[in-house]
Amino acid sequence: MGSLRPLNYLALVFGFLCWSANAPGQFARPTVDPAAADRGAKIYGGSCAKCHGADTRGTATGADLVRSTVVLHDRLNSLHGAELAAVLETGPNHHFKYDQEKLFDLSQFLVQSVNKTLRSGYSNQPTDLLNGDAKAGEAYFAGAGGCVKCHSVTGDLAGIGKRYSPAILQQKFLFPNSGPRFSRTGPPVQKMQVTVTLSSGKALSGSLIYIDDFAVSLRDDKGIYQSFARGEGLKVRTVDPYAAHVALLDRYTDTDIHNLTTYLETLK
Ligand code: HEC
Ligand code: HEC
Repeated sequence: MGSLRPLNYLALVFGFLCWSANAPGQFARPTVDPAAADRGAKIYGGSCAKCHGADTRGTATGADLVRSTVVLHDRLNSLHGAELAAVLETGPNHHFKYDQEKLFDLSQFLVQSVNKTLRSGYSNQPTDLLNGDAKAGEAYFAGAGGCVKCHSVTGDLAGIGKRYSPAILQQKFLFPNSGPRFSRTGPPVQKMQVTVTLSSGKALSGSLIYIDDFAVSLRDDKGIYQSFARGEGLKVRTVDPYAAHVALLDRYTDTDIHNLTTYLETLK
């Protein structure tokens, strides 16, 4: 087992994605407006650092933003805070409302922080992603990785090596919720699910639209929008369809990732 953290792999994948942007493609090299990032650093220092850490790597009370898919989306797609806005306006941890300019500044600061963290291993060349050990990858898939709980190499993942290039495939299992932005194939991005149980015992489930300390809203599978005031007797349970993959980011070693990519690419 290797001792390097998955960040090296992120560097590698993003290095590759950025490299491929030099050819015509959908990925723009992430550039940062330094003046905006400086302004964003001030907002961050005042409003975010106490939970997310001065270095954006997280604390006991706030997530690691370098690993945040929200921030990574921003970085890769130049969304300039579009996804960030949704996170920041939605509780339980956040109740921020920033105008477009401040969101842009904050997102520029966060993108700059990710770039800095990735720089150590940052590569502008695609590296060989397929020199892992396919047998060890297969063992990890069925064993320690627990992948077989949700996937089957003869079912949903059959022929996955045909569908994606090695770099995209690796991106796909590291961040499956990065969705169709990275390729036109593959399943659509799934929304956060929520079940609201009323005091009467009646339960309603659907895709989460909004949640904070006072309200929760969802859209059920018939497309009907429902909103509830949160209070006595209302139980709310959210389920992130990608929770398993997010948790895996803290468990893989670089060797596991390498082996998995090599193994999954054999599924043609
Ligand atoms: C009171 C502590 C707290 C403060 C202050 C705070 N956050 Fe958070 N933040 C959290 C926690 C906890 C999470 C993880 C759970 C969640 O998503 O709500 C989180 C999640 C996030 C995420 C999503 C990470 C992911 O999973 O992709 C982003 C982005 C983020 N915060 C940005 C910010 C920014 C920018 C600020 C300042 C404007 C800020 N936060 C202020 C506690 C905080
Ligand atoms: C608890 C369930 C769960 C576990 C465990 C899990 N995954 Fe996933 N995985 C998902 C979900 C949900 C998706 C999103 C794709 C979808 O909606 O079908 C996904 C997507 C993927 C994709 C992208 C598929 C595509 O067609 O784009 C790959 C590859 C993948 N997972 C590999 C793995 C590997 C490798 C492991 C083990 C290290 C693993 N998964 C563990 C639930 C899981």
